[in-house]
Amino acid sequence: MEIVLSGIRPTGKLHLGNYFGALRNFVHLQNEYDCYFFIADYHSLTTHPTPHNLFGNVREVLVEYLAAGLDPEKATLYIQSDVPQVTELYLFLNMNAYIGELQRCTSFKEKVRQQPHNVNAGLLTYPTLMAADILIHKATKVPVGKDQEQHLEMTRTFANRFNRLYKVDYFPEPQAFNFGEELIKVPGLNGSGKMGKSEGEDNAIFLADEPETIRRKVMKAITDAGPTVPNQPKSEAVQNLFQLLNIVSSPETVNYFEEQYNTCQIKYGELKKQLAEDMIAFTAPFRERIKEISNNDEYLRKVVRMGKEKAQAHASQTVKEVREIIGFRSF
Ligand code: TRP
Repeated sequence: MEIVLSGIRPTGKLHLGNYFGALRNFVHLQNEYDCYFFIADYHSLTTHPTPHNLFGNVREVLVEYLAAGLDPEKATLYIQSDVPQVTELYLFLNMNAYIGELQRCTSFKEKVRQQPHNVNAGLLTYPTLMAADILIHKATKVPVGKDQEQHLEMTRTFANRFNRLYKVDYFPEPQAFNFGEELIKVPGLNGSGKMGKSEGEDNAIFLADEPETIRRKVMKAITDAGPTVPNQPKSEAVQNLFQLLNIVSSPETVNYFEEQYNTCQIKYGELKKQLAEDMIAFTAPFRERIKEISNNDEYLRKVVRMGKEKAQAHASQTVKEVREIIGFRSF
């Protein structure tokens, strides 16, 4: 069975954009492939070497992924730092990663601009660590966003270079796993662009948001002055609200408001009220599961232990073989 692998950076609560953009696909994939999903806590040190709540961030992501349907009985769900074999492979890959290619990487150049006072070696070798994550399990399918494609290209380069240098056919080439058309774009609430927390907390609806919070955020979403002629094209802000309605509401509700809009009778306040209630209903099961799982330390410990054991067993096999290929021998 083909191996699917993806890493998630522990950068806070999940919102509807994350759910429809990645998570929901992971939940489908775990039924069809041998899946490895992990929380990339080593990677988070490249930008935040002294995190103030590393454990809390990892725990939050873990809880929310479980709440959204990742099943530790189906997929191997683990924390990157629980598998130190990754760092050994990272070291080996770094020996054959050239400084020029690492410096040319777009994400590195961007980080140099963003944090000129912390251009550390971990940041430079972020792509080799990511390659180690992927190659340690010999994954061939990697579901990631567009922004990660260059890292995947570099992973293929490192894998092929390893094979060539040591004259083996050991590492397979991983490919990005694109869902293309299937991906639902989730717009944000502040009038333009997609849902994301970098645009401010109120632009996104988080799976853990309480009903009052959802109502408050939706009610202050950007709209416009309203249509003045029948069938008037919608402004981006209003189009976005309709897209959100499409995602969480029934077709009847969507049709009703389309009709109201097209006949210039729409009251945006009414639309927002309905949208807020439908979002509350859509997120309710997630919210409940997040609370339930978050209060169950015993379950979390069990999940983490299981993932660690499965991932380590697989990873140590790879490291053992790589050591033999490179030429390490025991006395
Ligand atoms: N770099 C990825 C991101 O920023 C996270 C990541 C780390 C990852 N290692 C990975 C993704 C391995 C896929 C495979 O989102």
